[in-house]
Amino acid sequence: MQTVEVQIPGYEYTIHIGTHILDQQLPQAVRQFGVDLIVVVTNTTIHELYPFCIQQCLEASKQQIETCILPDGEQYKNLDTLNQIYDFLLKKRANRKTLVIAFGGGVIGDMAGFAAATFMRGVPYIQVPTTLLADVDSSIGGKTAVNHSLGKNTIGAFKQPVYVCMELNFLKTLEKRELIAGFFELMKHGIIHDAQLFTFLKNHQNVLETLDFSVLEEAIEASCRIKANVVEQDEKEQGWRATLNFGHTLGHFIETHTNYTSYLHGEAVGTGMVFAAFASRELGFLSEAAYQDIVSFLQTLACSIQLPALNYPLFKDLILHDKKANQQAVDFILIRNIGECFIHNNTSPELIWELFQKFIDTHPWACQVITS
Ligand SMILES: NC(=O)c1ccc[n+]([C@@H]2O[C@H](COP(=O)([O-])OP(=O)(O)OC[C@H]3O[C@@H](n4cnc5c(N)ncnc54)[C@H](O)[C@@H]3O)[C@@H](O)[C@H]2O)c1
Ligand SMILES: [Zn+2]
Repeated sequence: MQTVEVQIPGYEYTIHIGTHILDQQLPQAVRQFGVDLIVVVTNTTIHELYPFCIQQCLEASKQQIETCILPDGEQYKNLDTLNQIYDFLLKKRANRKTLVIAFGGGVIGDMAGFAAATFMRGVPYIQVPTTLLADVDSSIGGKTAVNHSLGKNTIGAFKQPVYVCMELNFLKTLEKRELIAGFFELMKHGIIHDAQLFTFLKNHQNVLETLDFSVLEEAIEASCRIKANVVEQDEKEQGWRATLNFGHTLGHFIETHTNYTSYLHGEAVGTGMVFAAFASRELGFLSEAAYQDIVSFLQTLACSIQLPALNYPLFKDLILHDKKANQQAVDFILIRNIGECFIHNNTSPELIWELFQKFIDTHPWACQVITS
């Protein structure tokens, strides 16, 4: 088992990563909090696969445990479903001493976290992530949110969990496509902040086939350290945390231009990272050798994105409407080397459009625009 400590002043917490750890670690963690009710928030899919798994782990604690089961899917990550959590908490007479446990992927983590941030002005919550994406990304760092019809993750709060338990055995039932999507965010952490992690992943390229948990444990630990370190420096994304958006400029564009229906977030980011590496090279920041190193690895997993027809006004509109962009320009995350990123402030949408045109001409395996 690996342990990572997140040191945000006033909000310190521990992350445990390993296999067969939940039974022991979760009850130990829960014991530290004087809670009188535990509410597990999960979804129908996870509940079917792992019915009452958290209750069984905590049986000996003799605490009242209730399970709130939500519908599965990003389309339910909204205020209506959030309200179902509040209803559940109120019906179960939850109070400020209630502990929420988010048991699921990023959608559950974000919603349960936001419910915990706002219910009775804040109750503690624990993350028990069940997807690779949630392990390496969404379960740590304290961003919680739901979607609004006019924008993804637009209603939210910063709320750090009090503990995170990454039981890797849950990954055995996760679909390959979901594993790959999470793997892209893992690769991202290596590409932007840790050349050693990048090399480690490259040397274990078949880990998603073998599901070798010792390899995954080591990689996820490194990844959590990177994210924890960035969040410790800039919890509220005033600056440096934005580097975690590497690959997300084009990634978000792909997601919005395809109405969030065709590609998983991680898949869009995977192609977005190829584009960001390409842009870094085109603008003279990244060497050809480093570029080839990154892209040949990404290419092994990248899915070929097919985009509906588009023109510059639409492209500009979507790129600038991303909430992570300021008004007329974009903070584009680029790299100088593997493991060394920087924020290219005030990048004009015209420049990104030019780069994008070149990109689709030269990288049809990564992204194509369907014109007919
Ligand atoms: N808070 C953050 O910092 C942050 C960061 C990145 C992403 N996110 C959010 O995370 C969400 C995406 O998370 P995700 O990729 O985990 O998606 P998800 O939560 O929708 O899970 C993907 C699918 O896998 C299923 N699933 C989960 N665990 C499983 C398991 N062990 N076995 C089988 N099936 C399982 C889910 O029910 C779902 O159908 C998005 O809403 C995104 O906005 C948040
Ligand atoms: Zn992401």
